Amino acid sequence: MKTRRSLAIFLLATLTNFALAAQEHTVTEHHGHSHYIEHDSAVGHKLMFPSKTPDRIIANLTLDPAHSFAVNWRTEQQIAKGVVEIAVATDGPEFLLGNVRKIEAQTEMFENQNRNEPLVKAAYHSAVISDLQPRTTYVYRVGNGSEDNNYWSEWFQFTTAGTDMKEPFSFIYFGDAQNNVKSLWSRVIRNSYRQFPHVDFMLHAGDLINDRDANLEWGEWFYAGSFIHATVPSMMTPGNHEYRDGVLSSLWRPQFTLPENGPIDALKETCYALDYQNMKLISIDAEGFDESLEAREAQVKWLDSVLSANTKKWTAITMHYPIFSTAEGRDNKELREALKPIIDKYKVDLVLQGHDHTYARGYVKNEGKGLTVVKDAGTVYAVSVSGPKMYESKNRDWMVRRGEFTQLFQIITVSKDTIKYGAYTPTGNLYDAFDLIKKNGKKRLINKLPDSPTRLKKDFVKEE
Ligand SMILES: [Fe+2]
Repeated sequence: MKTRRSLAIFLLATLTNFALAAQEHTVTEHHGHSHYIEHDSAVGHKLMFPSKTPDRIIANLTLDPAHSFAVNWRTEQQIAKGVVEIAVATDGPEFLLGNVRKIEAQTEMFENQNRNEPLVKAAYHSAVISDLQPRTTYVYRVGNGSEDNNYWSEWFQFTTAGTDMKEPFSFIYFGDAQNNVKSLWSRVIRNSYRQFPHVDFMLHAGDLINDRDANLEWGEWFYAGSFIHATVPSMMTPGNHEYRDGVLSSLWRPQFTLPENGPIDALKETCYALDYQNMKLISIDAEGFDESLEAREAQVKWLDSVLSANTKKWTAITMHYPIFSTAEGRDNKELREALKPIIDKYKVDLVLQGHDHTYARGYVKNEGKGLTVVKDAGTVYAVSVSGPKMYESKNRDWMVRRGEFTQLFQIITVSKDTIKYGAYTPTGNLYDAFDLIKKNGKKRLINKLPDSPTRLKKDFVKEE
């Protein structure tokens, strides 16, 4: 008897749920804009189509990361308004009882259809949260501003930069993610965060995805990083795959909020400079350089002026194309001839690059190869790859460490007199390391290579 009653209750509940679901479906169809439901048989639809709940949430570095950060997210177009709520983080939920600040986002209706993907309509929301305290941990969430909790993200925890120039900070640098991002890049970003959860920001050296406007691929990139993108702010430089026919991905500016202090309008949010504590960080739009003479000349002049006014102790430049390539036939001569004199003139510390789908790290005057301590090493150049697409490389004089067929992320810790650099595989193995020490105007490089063989593609992939 008891069992039969349970069954009846179960059936009733199921029918009620079914009826509610049907009603919901009818309502949605009536309004006629639920993309998400309409396309639920499309491959990867959960990654491609927005819903009312925020997705693709990402924090970006601003020009003043000690007092502000930027956040972007996406919803379906029925959510025409975006709100950020933020409070100083507390040990329990008591922040909810105090003054939670509300900031209205800017909302942009956007649609695109890439190749044979379906049309995707979305509302992109973005906000810059300013007037924050340095080195303070905040909680924030994004949503539609409703009093209930229906269309809000979870609360993320976020920490601002410091204002003490001697205080150490760390960032993780990724070469190209680009292909099979959900399947094979996700473990790289996730394990980088697991290995170093106190990281202050992440830097992506271009080719985050393969096909400029592919909504599915961008969906995979956001899925792979998930809450990490919302917790650790990012800066990114575009690669050639964020461009096609000289045109930047139409999603780049709606989905990121990056500095707009580059030389010309066409390079807004792709070529920029920002300060993080005692480091100047510069993004050069290398594909822009390649595609347009105007963008080339503007960036060369701009880089010189930014570096001539630079008061920061440390300087790092990221750009997608490497100044020194790792393989024949991939040489970027014009880029090198235009930018290397400026890099030398201002003694840039690090140049962090991608594109070659291999790993290499070194410096120009690599005399006496194998030295542990190098005086006046000059600029250190790195080429890295985080995704699964793998090429071969050639040993070159400038290289101290080289590798193929290895997915890597680099943890870089910057302190008063030292930059510590470690390149790690997703399983946490150290593949390359060095310290850069700058004291009294003198710079020393200490190579700390692990005692492991150079990984080469031919050792893993046998020619037929
Ligand atoms: Fe590339």
